[in-house]
Amino acid sequence: MLRILVIHGPNLNLLGEREPDVYGTLTLADLNGQIARLAEKLAVSVEFFQSNHEGAIIDHLHENRKTADGVVINPGALTHYSYALRDAIAGVELPTVEVHLSDIDRREPFRRHSVTKEVCLAQMSGKGVHSYLQGLEFLVTYLSQLHIDFS
Ligand code: DQA
Repeated sequence: MLRILVIHGPNLNLLGEREPDVYGTLTLADLNGQIARLAEKLAVSVEFFQSNHEGAIIDHLHENRKTADGVVINPGALTHYSYALRDAIAGVELPTVEVHLSDIDRREPFRRHSVTKEVCLAQMSGKGVHSYLQGLEFLVTYLSQLHIDFS
C-alpha cells in the first residue's frame, strides 16, 4: 500500500478559528478526517504531521525519505520564503504536491510567489479542503502510473 505523508505547516493547527473568512471553519481534525476518508477509498495510507517549526518539517521529511512514497504538503507561509524547505523537498526526492486552502495568486503580493512550487509535481490552490483532496488524487494517480508493472 502506498504510504503518503500529509504535512501541514505553521499556523494550520489553528484552522477553524484562524481567519475563517479566508480559511473556512473546518478544523484541522475535520480536514484530516476528509483526507483520511478519501485515502481509504483510494486504498492508500496517509500519515498526518503538523508543525509550526520549519526545522521539524524538514526533519520529518528526512526521517521518512526512505519509507514514504509521496508527500502532500501545505507549507503555510514557508511557501513564500523557505529555501531550506525547498531544498529538503528537492533533496529527499519524494514526489510532492503543494496545496493551499486559499487562492494564493489572488491575495497579497508576497503570497503570489512560491519558492517550493518548482520542486513539486503540482500546486493546488484556492479550493479549501478540495485542494488537499485533489492533491492527494493527483499524487496517487502519478504514483500508480509509476508502479505499473509492464512485465
Ligand atoms: C496557506 C496560504 C499561505 O500564504 C498562508 O501563509 C498560510 C496558509 C493556504 O493554505 O492558503 O498559512 O498556505
